[in-house]
Amino acid sequence: MSTPNEPWGNTVDVEFEDDIAFVFFNRPEKKNCMSPALNREMYATLHTLELDERCKVVVLTGRGEAWSAGMDLKEYFRETDNKGDAFKMHTRDESQAWQQIKLRFHAKPTIAMVNGWVFGGAFTPLTSCDLAISSDDATYGVSEVNWGIIPGGNVTKVLADTIGQRNALYYIMTGETFQGPKAAQMGLVNESVPADQLKARVVELAKELMKKDPVVLRSAKEVFKRIGAMDWDTANDYIYAKSDGAILRSGGEFRNGAMKAFLDDKKLKPGLDTYDKEDK
Ligand code: COA
Repeated sequence: MSTPNEPWGNTVDVEFEDDIAFVFFNRPEKKNCMSPALNREMYATLHTLELDERCKVVVLTGRGEAWSAGMDLKEYFRETDNKGDAFKMHTRDESQAWQQIKLRFHAKPTIAMVNGWVFGGAFTPLTSCDLAISSDDATYGVSEVNWGIIPGGNVTKVLADTIGQRNALYYIMTGETFQGPKAAQMGLVNESVPADQLKARVVELAKELMKKDPVVLRSAKEVFKRIGAMDWDTANDYIYAKSDGAILRSGGEFRNGAMKAFLDDKKLKPGLDTYDKEDK
């Protein structure tokens, strides 16, 4: 249940647990396909969570049997087909805004907890999440070819970037489905686990992320996501600039404390463990 200042509660829902915000695609009766209304609500939700103290990690998952069955063929495609170019482009922009900008560069670490169907347009938010854990029984399909379009919404791009030419073209051209273990083997998700272990594994991973310096974590993922388009020298310069910026913004307390714990107090092996800032 949301309060008046919280933008979720309809097509998107949020539950807070252990400093994690579980963000749900919340249209289970429509297999969580993404309508224009959902796209707007998801943007507002993710935007709000960036400043919400109850959220240290975002977990994106789905209510019911689906993670998300992709874009809504009725509300996103058919019902916008004859509304004119400006309307169509506006609808696309709203989808891109949350999937490829707000989620991809979210202030908090993001984990996709893949609990069921993943089709078409859903591959974009999936790969915009920093990390992804799948249930073994989740079913994935690049289904666009099955209904006569090519994978848009940058689905083709994210597949090329994550699973490579052979795998991407195979699934783009056949529309065949695959399950969680195959998604893990191709590098589309980090791991695939039995359904009854999915949430526990995601929570464990989220807690590991919470031990790190959040400013450094945010900069590290942002750097990784931007350097693909840079040449060698530009990337090197950008990484140093972001590194210096992160230390400035965080105050360097974590870094200096960790160096003291390792070099002076001999209490930490940073190759093996994370610095505990409470243990001075
Ligand atoms: N767009 C619009 N509606 C969708 C949808 C989508 N992407 N995916 C599911 N739905 C709707 C169905 O039309 C149905 O609506 P209804 O109850 O008003 O008839 C409802 O969700 C339940 O789906 P249904 O097909 O009855 O469930 P199922 O369990 O038999 O099959 C799927 C589940 C996901 C395999 C099937 O719904 C499907 O193929 N969806 C389309 C997936 C796709 O190609 N997405 C790519 C979009 S880019």
